Amino acid sequence: MPASKKISMNICKRCDEDFPDIEMINGMCLHIFEKLEGEAPSCVPNKHKYSRFSNFQQISSDHTQMLNFCRDQLANNLSIYLAGRQGCGKSHLAAACASELNRLGRDVVYNTFAEYLYSLADPSYDDKMEAEKWTLKHYASNEYVILDDVGQGHSISKLSPLVSRLYDENRNIVITSNLNIEQLAQEIGSVIPSRLTEMCGGKDKIMYFDLLDYRLLTRAEKDAFAEKYKTEAKIDFPI
Ligand SMILES: Nc1ncnc2c1ncn2[C@@H]1O[C@H](COP(=O)(O)OP(=O)(O)OP(=O)(O)O)[C@@H](O)[C@H]1O
Ligand SMILES: [Mg+2]
Ligand SMILES: [Zn+2]
Repeated sequence: MPASKKISMNICKRCDEDFPDIEMINGMCLHIFEKLEGEAPSCVPNKHKYSRFSNFQQISSDHTQMLNFCRDQLANNLSIYLAGRQGCGKSHLAAACASELNRLGRDVVYNTFAEYLYSLADPSYDDKMEAEKWTLKHYASNEYVILDDVGQGHSISKLSPLVSRLYDENRNIVITSNLNIEQLAQEIGSVIPSRLTEMCGGKDKIMYFDLLDYRLLTRAEKDAFAEKYKTEAKIDFPI
């Protein structure tokens, strides 16, 4: 029988490289972790525990713009409405915001919109109003509330009481969504988008990021885009 080729089970999902001899964490090589600052808060799901600003790859000027936008909004103590197509990196950057805020010692909670809805409907409360009261109080006790994936067919109108509460309490929110702000207004009316616009620092801060789906790019394509962008823009940044 011919000797079969060794099939490695140790391919790093970020580098796409085979590291047969090193330990992996969460499917990623240790090289990734050596560079990571701080820790993600425990509410960040495993998928994005290691998502940071520093490992958001800048493969086009749009990626740089999206990354810098998030950094600047946090630095200016503003909210973020991060809208864009599937796979463009919204959850990665939302989780990066959570880790960055955590590193700075700021109170932050990260949840999917679905988890927020479950909490509103928590069956351990007899009274629905009590569940809602407790949920809003819990979220508003944080300086930043990060709500991932708003508007995926869930009851999107439930976003209103949370945004209103955070608006009244001068708290910040980071929302990721596939809906642009006009589509959001069609779903829930224009009052909440108006308040969100103020929380984000004005209507020029409300953008839709029409980036490629990162999941559909091969490692070679990502590297080629990054190299081309680096050369054309004559910029130097770590990748
Ligand atoms: N620029 C990037 N650099 C490094 N990793 C990225 C980048 N963009 C996306 N990713 C990774 O690609 C995957 C998809 O990104 P992410 O989940 O953030 O997309 P999304 O915009 O939230 O998609 P969806 O609309 O489906 O929720 C994740 O594993 C994320 O860490
Ligand atoms: Mg997402
Ligand atoms: Zn790796």
